[in-house]
Amino acid sequence: MAVSKKKSLVGLDIGSHCIKLVEIEHTKHGRVLRNFGVAATPPNAIVEGSVKDVEAVSAAIKSLFRNLKVRNSNVAVSLSGYSVIAKKIALDRMEESQIEKAIQEEAEKYIPYDISEVNLDFAMVNSKSEAEEVTEGEGESAGPERMEMMLVAAKREIIDEYVELVRAADLNPGVLDVDIFALQNAVEISWEGSEECFAIVNLGAKELEINAISGGVSTFSRDSSYGGAQITEAIMSEFGIDFQEAEKLKLGGIELDKKKREGLEKIVTRTVLAWVGEIKRALDFVASTHADDAIEKIIVSGGSSRIPGFQKYLEMETRISVEALDPFKSLVIDSKRVDPDYLNYMAPQAGVAVGLALRYIDDK
Ligand SMILES: Nc1ncnc2c1ncn2[C@@H]1O[C@H](COP(=O)(O)OP(=O)(O)OP(=O)(O)O)[C@@H](O)[C@H]1O
Ligand SMILES: [Mg+2]
Repeated sequence: MAVSKKKSLVGLDIGSHCIKLVEIEHTKHGRVLRNFGVAATPPNAIVEGSVKDVEAVSAAIKSLFRNLKVRNSNVAVSLSGYSVIAKKIALDRMEESQIEKAIQEEAEKYIPYDISEVNLDFAMVNSKSEAEEVTEGEGESAGPERMEMMLVAAKREIIDEYVELVRAADLNPGVLDVDIFALQNAVEISWEGSEECFAIVNLGAKELEINAISGGVSTFSRDSSYGGAQITEAIMSEFGIDFQEAEKLKLGGIELDKKKREGLEKIVTRTVLAWVGEIKRALDFVASTHADDAIEKIIVSGGSSRIPGFQKYLEMETRISVEALDPFKSLVIDSKRVDPDYLNYMAPQAGVAVGLALRYIDDK
């Protein structure tokens, strides 16, 4: 029997490379995976977290819903990229009525846009009252007189784009989340160490997202323009082939002679080095600002985290153990509806969509 079925949302991760859909039914027997599917994102339709071609993307979403026979039209989607900022801040303890104004002032320090173009949201993450309990937030401690808040700021223009996109696909935007928070939720249900200090790395086609978490709260996050498309594009120019061929070659679907194989290896090595360098710099920064919260694990996700050698190299350089996220791990799989082998293969790419599908319609 379904519990609170009418409130559940379909998780829709609209990436620059592909759109991932997850439908979870919350039942007495646990969370059942009802639907999972992927559709290619039309070329250049999603660029740096912004929707460039509403018509093409909404058509792809519509056919994904049709093919999977999804009936629930309430969806949760997420934002990412430069237009969204998530940051933990510490404020002096104050009356609730004053918080909003103080947050607004504090936010202006971090947001590179005019504050009037931005939608602000915040949540209390820590309210310390014991003098000995001191937590740090990038150099800012929440001492006895301080309170910690998670601040999320998104450009209004981008929010409007996603709402328009979802409506154009004849769907209803129930929740607008942020990639890194959706992933954090997926990790919480599928990884037993989620009480510890750890980092989540999401390596997609065009975005590298890094999120450091301590005691269930994000202490640091960064988005950079790195991803698997760098390799695909380098292959296109090195071998003079188109995008589709280059993707196939990258994924090992084309036999290569020795010279070409070496050429490919060079591209992959060069790119992986740059990714690992970026992640290491971020984690070194976290280590220097949160000395008490040593990161014990890096959970990797995203399609490009499957590039051979990446996880091993990341582990070697950071000296932190690396584990691939399986967001389906704790879900009950209905094998009549979803092929377990396909799920297994796609698991690294499904984290954000699983996290989104865990949300409810009246969630904040
Ligand atoms: N087995 C694999 N080995 C290497 N790369 C892979 C593999 N499978 C998928 N990829 C790459 O992963 C990327 C897609 O991953 P993902 O679905 O996480 O990205 P996205 O969410 O669409 O993009 P973004 O979040 O960057 O906008 C593509 O660049 C694809 O070529
Ligand atoms: Mg993505």
